[in-house]
Order: sequence, then structure tokens, then C-alpha cells
Amino acid sequence: MSGFLPEVTIFPTPEMLAERAAHEFARLSQASIELHGRFSVALSGGSTPQAMYAHLAEEPLRSQVDWGRVYVFWGDERCVPPDSPQSNYGNARSRLLQRVPIPEGNIYRIPAEMEPQKAARQYEETLLRYFGALELEEDRERAAFDLVLLGMGDEGHTASLFPGTLAVSEPTHWVSAEYVEKLSAWRISLTPALFNRAAQVLFLVAGANKASTLVTVLYGSDQPERYPAQSIRPNTGRLRWWVDEAAASTF
Ligand code: 6PG
Repeated sequence: MSGFLPEVTIFPTPEMLAERAAHEFARLSQASIELHGRFSVALSGGSTPQAMYAHLAEEPLRSQVDWGRVYVFWGDERCVPPDSPQSNYGNARSRLLQRVPIPEGNIYRIPAEMEPQKAARQYEETLLRYFGALELEEDRERAAFDLVLLGMGDEGHTASLFPGTLAVSEPTHWVSAEYVEKLSAWRISLTPALFNRAAQVLFLVAGANKASTLVTVLYGSDQPERYPAQSIRPNTGRLRWWVDEAAASTF
């Protein structure tokens, strides 16, 4: 990300990273609800945020979040049923959502059991409706998550924006469905067109296996097609990278 100095915080262990991230989620939820009455968040999949979700489901944080004003979306989803162990929705539900008093109507699951392209179009309509942008094109400008949580794969993907996929440079659509050759699987992902409208973007990255890619993504030349995590650069919002020492070991 030449010429762009990222905001990076290094934590000694993944456990400390997860706990601090849970506290930051609670803090941001309070600030967003105070500012405009709700907290719209796109959750990340994968394993890194699971411990964070568990912290949010326990006291003291559980009571510090006004769950009735929290609206949950996903940054991406695997094309599996919601009860699959692979489901990002299923994991967040078991770790967090079924353990806190969040109304069912506040949870916007990606319908990933559907035909992928149809699921992507349907979820995009859900997002447009939620952000009040279904009617007029210019209303899209108002759409912005209060918080987007993201992880990074060891080759530089984020959400389900994988190297070489069209979604990385999709200029208009907010949701894409793509067959990922590397995984031999379909994935549904929000695109940078929506991610980059967020007020806050927080990457959580842990593990030595990500160290060489992380230093390239953060401090190397701009190659978002090769390292899709580099395509996440909020238009006006704050971008932070919270990593553990193992992931930062080549800094
Ligand atoms: C997914 C995620 C994906 C994840 C990274 C890191 O659906 O898997 O959205 O982008 O964040 O692959 O995954 P880990 O946290 O398991 O390392």
C-alpha cells in the first residue's frame, strides 16, 4: 500500500487480540447507537474472530451492548446450508447470536443455500433496503456500515475476495458470487464498493502463517488483484489492523 501508512496494533497473543477486539466492538456499538440510534456491523468468518464472539457473549461485555439496536450482516459466506460447520452464519450464531438478546429481525443472514448468483442479488437487495437505497441511486451514498470486521487469508484474500476474482475490482455491485478455483467452491462476498463506505474497518490477523503476506499487504506495493486485502481502503472511514506477534514476526 505504497504511500499509505496503515494503523497497526500488535498484541502478544491471539487471546489478547480477541479480548481487546470484543471490547472495541462494545465501545463502537455504544458510540454508533449514541450517534445515530443503531450499530450496523458486518461480521467476519473464519476462525480468528470466534474467540472475540465468545467474549461478547459473556459478561461484562454482554450487558454493555444494546443488542436491540445492533444489526448484524456478514462480509461473506460459504455456499453451504446455515447448519453446516462451514457456515460463517452458523458459527457466529452458536458462538454469539444465540447467547445474546438480539432480535431475530436484526440478523441478516446471507441465503447461501440458494443458487449463488441469486443469493448475491437477493442479499444486495436486502442491503439496499436496509440502507434506504433501494429506490434512488444517489441514496447509495448514505450506505455505510458502522463497523466491518475482516480477516485475511495466508495468501492475502479477505472476506471471499480471492486473488484473480472479478469481485475485487467490482465498481458498482455490493455483493458478488464467484466460483473460487483454489477452493473448488462457490463463495458469496460483499465487495470493496460497500466495504469501503464503512466508518470503521478492523482487520483481525493472527498466526505465523500470515506473517510474510501481512508485511507485503501492509507495506508492499499496491497489488490488490494479487492481494485482495489491499482493496480495503475506506473512503472516509478508519482502517485498523489488529494483529498478534506471530503474524507481525517479519515486521
Ligand atoms: C471466511 C472468511 C475469510 C477469513 C480468512 C482468515 O469465510 O473464511 O471470511 O476471509 O477471514 O480466510 O481466516 P482465519 O481467521 O480462519 O485464518
